[in-house]
Amino acid sequence: MSFRIMGTGSYLPPLSVTNDDIAKYVDTNDEWISTRTGIRSRHVATDETASEMGAKAALEALKDAGIQADELDLILCATVSGEYIVPSMACLIQRAIGAHCPAFDMSSACSAFLVMMETAAAYLATGRYRRILLVGTEQMSRVLDWTDRSTCILFGDGAGAVVLEPGENYLGSHMVFMGGEEVLNLPTNVGNSPYWTLERPRDTVNMNGGETYKFATRTVPQEILALLEQTGTQQSEIDWVVCHQANQRIIDAVARRLKGIAPEKFLSNIADHGNTTAATIPLLLDECNKKGMFKRGDLMVVAAFGGGLSCIASLIRW
Ligand code: UT7
Repeated sequence: MSFRIMGTGSYLPPLSVTNDDIAKYVDTNDEWISTRTGIRSRHVATDETASEMGAKAALEALKDAGIQADELDLILCATVSGEYIVPSMACLIQRAIGAHCPAFDMSSACSAFLVMMETAAAYLATGRYRRILLVGTEQMSRVLDWTDRSTCILFGDGAGAVVLEPGENYLGSHMVFMGGEEVLNLPTNVGNSPYWTLERPRDTVNMNGGETYKFATRTVPQEILALLEQTGTQQSEIDWVVCHQANQRIIDAVARRLKGIAPEKFLSNIADHGNTTAATIPLLLDECNKKGMFKRGDLMVVAAFGGGLSCIASLIRW
């Protein structure tokens, strides 16, 4: 047994920050950012935390699914920019939406939403849970170094959520995990042990952009092709590709490798949102869903990559 998506929701903080706005803080410009990344603006929180944004997305997904919070059996959340290490984001959202079910977080950076889908499918297969809420929510603006032009231009804030129930619409996944912190990391730097002798890390996003780019353009097509082979699916059968929104050039490079899928099937909202890490996939799914773009039965590849390093591709029937 796998799952069916019952409903989707998302939330963006109201402030939209353009590339020209960012050029007031760091030595950059709209032309560089838009041609190298496809990003023109991103939403940035001014007075809302990741859990508050996540709760708003969750409530919208519940409404879309037509169920109440107390009908949920499990809440899974993902974030790299939550306001606490303890309690979990899932517990904060559980209380905010008035749910009473088990709730815990899954950590897998930008791949986390698909890791949660994989986990939810396994839980639903046990028959123990029937309604699972997944939330990806990020306040990336609070974990960026706003003097580092190589990272602060890329990310945005926002949240997305889906509600799942048992069904037959999760058709498979293929993934690769390569442990290591060199390419992409976000250290924690809390406490003040008088016994600690080593240097304390900088607790903001650190990224080797070139290496991340190479990893993504190599592994995303590789995992999608492996997924299609594993599930006996032809590229021509795919109606939509929902890729992690990190850089439009990465999405375009993946599209060039998958020649059997028309370029217009690769969905994108990165121009207005930037990279919202664990929230990119549910945000994009919700926006396209609300625009009425998806028809029941549409076949979609959903693919994500990120810190870990990790890359995962999943096949879903809408
Ligand atoms: O979900 C997390 C995953 N993260 C990603 O997927 C990021 C993947 N990587 C990328 O998207 C790209 O590597 C970046 C957009 C981060 C960088 O693009 P790039 O084409 O790889 O540029 P670069 O790092 O090679 O830098 C080229 C030049 C450098 O100047 P010099 O050394 O050639 O003089 C940089 O200093 O561009 C300079 N540069 C900038 N210039 C203006 C770097 N950032 C900026 C900037 N504005 N914001």
